[in-house]
Amino acid sequence: MRTIKIFDTTLRDGEQSPGASMNTAEKLQLAKQLARMGVDIIEAGFAIASPGDFEAIKTIAGDVEGPIICSLARAKEEDIKRAWAAIKDAPKKRIHTFHSTSEIHLKHQYRIGPKEALKRSVEMVKLAKSFTDDIEFSPMDATRTDIGYLCEVIEAVIKAGATTVNIPDTVGYSIPSEFGAMIKKIRKRVKNIDKAVISVHCHNDLGLSTSNSLAAVLNGAGQIECTINGIGERAGNCSMEEVVMALRTRRDLFNADTNINTKEIMRSSRLVTSITGMRVQPNKAIVGANAFSHESGIHQDGLLKEKTTYEIITPESIGLGKTKYVLGKHSGRNAFRTRLSELGYTLSDDEINNAFKLFKEIADQKKDMYDEDLAALVSSEVSTVPEKYKLIKMSVSSGTDQKPSATIKMRVGTKNIQKTQKGDGPIDAIFKAITGITGTKSRLLKYEVKAITGGTDALGEVIVSLEEDDISVTGHGADTDIITASAKAYINALNKITARKK
Ligand code: KIV
Ligand code: ZN
Repeated sequence: MRTIKIFDTTLRDGEQSPGASMNTAEKLQLAKQLARMGVDIIEAGFAIASPGDFEAIKTIAGDVEGPIICSLARAKEEDIKRAWAAIKDAPKKRIHTFHSTSEIHLKHQYRIGPKEALKRSVEMVKLAKSFTDDIEFSPMDATRTDIGYLCEVIEAVIKAGATTVNIPDTVGYSIPSEFGAMIKKIRKRVKNIDKAVISVHCHNDLGLSTSNSLAAVLNGAGQIECTINGIGERAGNCSMEEVVMALRTRRDLFNADTNINTKEIMRSSRLVTSITGMRVQPNKAIVGANAFSHESGIHQDGLLKEKTTYEIITPESIGLGKTKYVLGKHSGRNAFRTRLSELGYTLSDDEINNAFKLFKEIADQKKDMYDEDLAALVSSEVSTVPEKYKLIKMSVSSGTDQKPSATIKMRVGTKNIQKTQKGDGPIDAIFKAITGITGTKSRLLKYEVKAITGGTDALGEVIVSLEEDDISVTGHGADTDIITASAKAYINALNKITARKK
């Protein structure tokens, strides 16, 4: 039985999804969850991309134990030095450097020939090797690269010190039989291939990223690059929960497994949704809301007689326990703290106290508080950025025969400011009043409301994505009143923009 390494790139390629940007505190929280889940390597970011990326990688390198912490770097001296500076404090570290190899990229984007690309790749692997032993090299757009040249590059970078060679299907172009055959050819033709692990990095443009990764495993790949919920550039990356559960469920076929504690899958999926605001489609394999719902009468009949008739994996195996934990207004601070820590949140005493205060207020209106409610409450109330803007109070009036109007009182720095604004609807009026107070010029990219759990007293979670000066962020707000939740989400997003600008 082989153990396939799981290389998680949610914090790097995943963050490249439009609207999925995360701040350092959010990245750290997610990295800790990935470590708890047992991933082998965390690609924590692209150090040279921005000071924010650098800071996040450095924080994760200093704070997260277990997995290897990796930074991406183009095959350029300044990138590699920056990657090293970001990861050097991690107990286990890796530099991942890449250069395109396909003719289409070299001719149109890099405007260099194949010899120059090979030379740069080898030189930069050698430079990276002067900092650390664990080096990964990716020939970008490998699946559209001439196989002879690809093998030449792979052999040369292994000779220069690469310990992992990653084969990216950068544009999601390949199909499983072809991709599997490519891995087989690489293993056959590259003389020193036994000195490196073959990794694969598949994008999902044709919906084949999981199948391609699995085909690669069948042909000898030893590492899979993937993201939670499959988020990533364009149509996303191979989804971790899918490959991991496919390998686990069909161990008989693959003769391989991973180190992942699959019971952490659901918690990780929810955390990514709550941080990025990117919801999972209901029919998504493994983590979609319908993944374990059986509608057909024939299926239900079979299930009642014997679970395995229509269920190939159990909900419990991905951490969807049968027991729903319910807290209510009589629950104490200790039960609240314990449940949050079981859900993966590490909060300071002050944060617990603030969240507990709101929990009590909400529990007065809403009888049962489920795990999903607690997660929404934490994303809304525990700010991961300094709060320049804070909601003090608000009132809204709207009706069929009046123009909606909102009065908002906020604290801005040390001042309290109040404003009333009319709008096309109550939400429009609130957002106008808030921008009137803050003087911000953000563009609204997304506004979403979700009832977290059933019932008319359900906690409503609002997600607001804003963009200003090329910075896009996602804010959260939760409340039993969705109008209040909307104001909180908008203000949370504005605080994130302010922090990012700094
Ligand atoms: O898709 C891709 O080719 C990448 C590389 C940087 C590995 O993300
Ligand atoms: Zn990618």
